[in-house]
Amino acid sequence: MGRIVAVTNLKGGIGKTTTVVNLSAGLALRGARVLLVDVDAQGNLSMALGVRPRRTLYEVLVDGAAMTDCIISARKNLDLVAADESLLTAQPEIARRPDWGRVLEKALMPVRGRYDVIMIDCGGSLTVLNLNALTAATDVLVPTTVEPFSLKGLEMLIQQIRQVKGSSGALRAIVPTMYDARTRQSVELLETLRTRYGDLVLPPIRVNVRLSECSALGKTIYEYDPRSRGAFDYAQLVEQLSERMSLGPSPSRPAPPPVSPLQASEPVPPNHAPADQPVVTGAGSILGASCPNCGHPLQRATVAGYRVIYCDHCKYRRQELATGGRGS
Ligand SMILES: Nc1ncnc2c1ncn2[C@@H]1O[C@H](COP(=O)(O)OP(=O)(O)O)[C@@H](O)[C@H]1O
Ligand SMILES: [Mg+2]
Repeated sequence: MGRIVAVTNLKGGIGKTTTVVNLSAGLALRGARVLLVDVDAQGNLSMALGVRPRRTLYEVLVDGAAMTDCIISARKNLDLVAADESLLTAQPEIARRPDWGRVLEKALMPVRGRYDVIMIDCGGSLTVLNLNALTAATDVLVPTTVEPFSLKGLEMLIQQIRQVKGSSGALRAIVPTMYDARTRQSVELLETLRTRYGDLVLPPIRVNVRLSECSALGKTIYEYDPRSRGAFDYAQLVEQLSERMSLGPSPSRPAPPPVSPLQASEPVPPNHAPADQPVVTGAGSILGASCPNCGHPLQRATVAGYRVIYCDHCKYRRQELATGGRGS
């Protein structure tokens, strides 16, 4: 069975949808079959991916439509069940049902075997659908900004995970977002996060205006600017989570059913990266090479066609085209 990953935080505007889009697109480019489910009535996921769904999750949860009829193809290996504001009216309806907490889990059951990963983009408040997402999830991923209030929010969320799932064991990773190493607060709070949650805290996603530009244009960061900091940070996250949560492609799993062009919505933006090109390959340290600034061992990764050589300890970073040409 594929994994069901809820991407959640009790706050809005902290990078959940950005993380869902660029993490899932990276996994899909690496060959994993990914289904995205938007349970936020703001419906940002379809906009961020540049697709216009004809049918939404509301029809599955309230009208009893088959999940397969509401899935659209957003990219190669990347499907989506979108949401819109109709989900607001779905919530009280669902809350009246005796099985209200498991409505989403049951709806996902028929398609679960077709995907390596189902990723749920949660809204930023305590809603019936967010609780459904937590119930259905095998893994929970928590993006968080590094601000004073976010630490308190994180504690509350972990309590909620405990209540819903009986323990906080499903919490797989905390992803600091919008990190700005130039501010003391960011640096200090990241340290606090690491002291408190140890290995659960992954390397931060830095503030990068390219990330907000690309979602406004309906593109992933790999399509919009694969050389940006944002592409690099998310590609690293893809690598780390693939390993930590075994989110890679499974050769034994049957392929998802072909999505009919009628269900498929707007065409995929024309200049997206070739879908079979891995986003990140060959990440790791370079034997014997040390940083010219600080002398620590250099790391390397190939990110959407660019070889990036960088240092974990200082800001040293060099990029070159993976085919041999040299970038900045
Ligand atoms: N690392 C980042 N750097 C700069 N802007 C970001 C970053 N991550 C997200 N954003 C922007 O912040 C806003 C909120 O992000 P979003 O992913 O929609 O948050 P959420 O889903 O938690 O509400 C969006 O405009 C998004 O483009
Ligand atoms: Mg969102």
